Amino acid sequence: MLYADSLGNFGRVANLPRILAFAASARRESLNRKFLALAVQATKEAGGDVTLLDLNDFALPLYNGDLEEAQGLPANAVKLIGLVTEHHALLVASPEYNSMLTPLLKNTVDWCSRGDANPFEDKVAAVLSASPGNYGGVRSLQMAQQLFLKLGCHVVPGQCVLPHANKAFDTEGNPTDPRTQKSVQELAAKLILTTTRLMA
Ligand SMILES: Cc1cc2nc3c(=O)[nH]c(=O)nc-3n(C[C@H](O)[C@H](O)[C@H](O)COP(=O)(O)O)c2cc1C
Repeated sequence: MLYADSLGNFGRVANLPRILAFAASARRESLNRKFLALAVQATKEAGGDVTLLDLNDFALPLYNGDLEEAQGLPANAVKLIGLVTEHHALLVASPEYNSMLTPLLKNTVDWCSRGDANPFEDKVAAVLSASPGNYGGVRSLQMAQQLFLKLGCHVVPGQCVLPHANKAFDTEGNPTDPRTQKSVQELAAKLILTTTRLMA
């Protein structure tokens, strides 16, 4: 959250939990982006200072050790590592491909784990997933939770999933079922509570 002082200078409110949010889909009409947008709003209302990223702005080659040896980390990986480092927590929408997480999420995380230090250590991570299917991407959500746990994150427990997500939004992107809103509000509340406690 930005504030202006009496001289009109802008800065951040220092004590708010800083949350880095992104959907692991490159699709413009991504259902996970729409679901994430609700979670971002709920997280702001719960007291978070949210930075929303579009991973299309941080395109990365498929991880290849030879490429890394020859050229080092891509500039976008360095930028992402910086962003993860300066936030307290992650809020990630994880689509499901063939019962797993997307190559975009894995590739992004893999590159970010190749810096000098692990930027994910001691961050809080909250994951959500949306899918047109019956299970709402729950297998992807569980795998993403495992991935962030392995990287040293404090993973917010629970399963914030949206089944039949292709029918869950009106043309403005608003949820058609109030339970959708409630599920992201619960996730956001847990995310802010955990992050705030760890900041203390
Ligand atoms: C390669 C591929 C595999 C998929 N496998 C699954 C799956 O295992 N489970 C599922 O619920 N949806 C699956 N889907 C459907 C996705 O959930 C759906 O395309 C969804 O809209 C992708 O997320 P997005 O809208 O955020 O891009 C798959 C889609 C693709 C392209």
